[in-house]
Amino acid sequence: IEYKNAKFTISAPNIASLATDEGFEVAFAGRSNAGKSSALNTLTEQKSLARTSKTPGRTQLINIFELDEQRRLVDLPGYGYAKVPLAVKQKWQKSLGEYLQKRESLAGLVVLMDIRHPLKELDQDLIFWAVDSELPVLILLTKADKLKQSARNKVLQEVRQASINFEGDVEVELFSSLKGTGLPALKRKLNG
Ligand code: GTP
Ligand code: MG
Repeated sequence: IEYKNAKFTISAPNIASLATDEGFEVAFAGRSNAGKSSALNTLTEQKSLARTSKTPGRTQLINIFELDEQRRLVDLPGYGYAKVPLAVKQKWQKSLGEYLQKRESLAGLVVLMDIRHPLKELDQDLIFWAVDSELPVLILLTKADKLKQSARNKVLQEVRQASINFEGDVEVELFSSLKGTGLPALKRKLNG
């Protein structure tokens, strides 16, 4: 798959406004500021395909990027960020929940977590739900460049150990949008 040919297709607050629900979608999910949009840009070698920001809560809509006629990548709004006005948060959490529960073409989840704050409660809830729904999950421990190699590998081992408890198709890899760490593993899983 040529990820660099990814094309922005549509942004929408609900799945009714998205294009047809056919083919296969892999969605990038995770806490606000985890690095979802950055990972999509790194994967597609396009600096500003998905909008990123230092401020959590940047992505507030469901964003679809087309790879080919059958395959799409999806940038989802983040969860778990306290400092967003409640009304806004409720609106975009509704989008997220609806997308996850109703999107027929959803074929897999990439769950991104800042390597310094892995496996928070909401991350675990999401992964348990995905396993229940028989969706394969790739956990990316993002911003791996923020830790030294030994610390990085320690977290990787810990999260791999912990993810046995999900009892599903859950893999864990290090990732850095900055350095390209984990990019081959991400492509392998997406191609698989
Ligand atoms: P929301 O859309 O708000 O949910 O956030 P997001 O998960 O899409 O995060 P985004 O990609 O916007 O990145 C958030 C911040 O983290 C930005 O300042 C990025 O530059 C930074 N960031 C993302 N990935 C990396 C990484 O691999 N390494 C480092 N050092 N910083 C990163
Ligand atoms: Mg984003």
